[in-house]
Amino acid sequence: MTKKRIFSGIQPSGNLHIGNYLGAIANWVKMQDEFESIFCVVDMHAITVPQDPEVLRQKTIEVAKIYLASGIDPQKSSLFIQSHVPEHAELCWILNTITQNGDLTKMTQFKSKAGIQFDLEDFEKSLTDLQNNPHPYFDDENTDTDINKVIKLSRDVAYETAREFIKKFIAKFNSSGVGLFDYPVLMAADIILYDTQTVPVGEDQLQHIELARDLAKRFNSKFGETFVVPEFFIKKEGMRIMGLDDPSKKMSKSASSEYNYIAFSDSEEIIRKKIRKAVTDSGSEIVYRDEKPALKNLINIYSLLADKKTSEIETMYAGKGYGDFKNDLAEIVVNFMKPMQERISGLSDEKVLEILREGAEKIRPIAKKKLDEVKEKIGFIV
Ligand code: TRP
Repeated sequence: MTKKRIFSGIQPSGNLHIGNYLGAIANWVKMQDEFESIFCVVDMHAITVPQDPEVLRQKTIEVAKIYLASGIDPQKSSLFIQSHVPEHAELCWILNTITQNGDLTKMTQFKSKAGIQFDLEDFEKSLTDLQNNPHPYFDDENTDTDINKVIKLSRDVAYETAREFIKKFIAKFNSSGVGLFDYPVLMAADIILYDTQTVPVGEDQLQHIELARDLAKRFNSKFGETFVVPEFFIKKEGMRIMGLDDPSKKMSKSASSEYNYIAFSDSEEIIRKKIRKAVTDSGSEIVYRDEKPALKNLINIYSLLADKKTSEIETMYAGKGYGDFKNDLAEIVVNFMKPMQERISGLSDEKVLEILREGAEKIRPIAKKKLDEVKEKIGFIV
């Protein structure tokens, strides 16, 4: 039986952190034997936001080092830099021609990165509110206010609201980059170029995978069976690591405060400080409950790193407080990070680049074959 193929990638931007490891990379390491695995450093995605070329070069190598230090084995899995396989960009271009703008304007990641978090629904809601609530325009002191005057006022306000909404939308949209807008199509190309069957990603990427599925199907129905329609693989809930300063959002390398995450580049001292400062919920007991999202997140990190069940951790800390728990957690995180950081610093840039170049060389024929098939089907002369 042939193994199923998986593809996943990380952008070389921001500081890679323990959430990337526990939420993604650690799973990939486990999946390597069961799946034919392709792991990519997606540098072409990283340039969709303003970036510094020198930092990009460093981060590209650093992400690869973290993959390797975590146990991604280049003998078992393909590991390469996205821009080393130009077929990704070529397929992206072709897929652009079967993608509608509307497929991309609805992407929540685009909207949030472009600062267009408001949408038509918000606008419609404000209009409905206005209709249900015209009374602010009645004059309390002058109860005989003409109803027609009120209607006209409401209409003026609705018009003004609509105008403001459209103005704001257009301004934000016009000042955002085409690359950022097109990001999901490049991601679809990454995935379907290799006939990927399963994509292990975080929940925040589901909408993007959905697009990859749609584009694969769309292409197949226009030009004949060409692409495998990929499935997604979502990790168990406990794997989703949230921000230390805000447990309502995923731990993020682009978070505004560095107290959001524990980075691979953090010193022992910083790690301890960050855990000490991590927000906790009210109360003092160590319990694993949805109503205590901050504590729940810390227990998840503890559980994954110490390989203990969350219920076991609750028992261990019965009668103890946050202080004891956090001290132990800091110890566990430090003990995990130390050997990891040693492995990372033990890898030279040259060695890593050699592995990445070999990876690209090995995988490229697969990409080329698929792209040639695509070109043939759409009428290019190959
Ligand atoms: N957009 C993904 C993220 O931010 C990274 C990515 C790019 C990716 N291409 C991919 C993930 C293909 C899975 C498959 O997490």
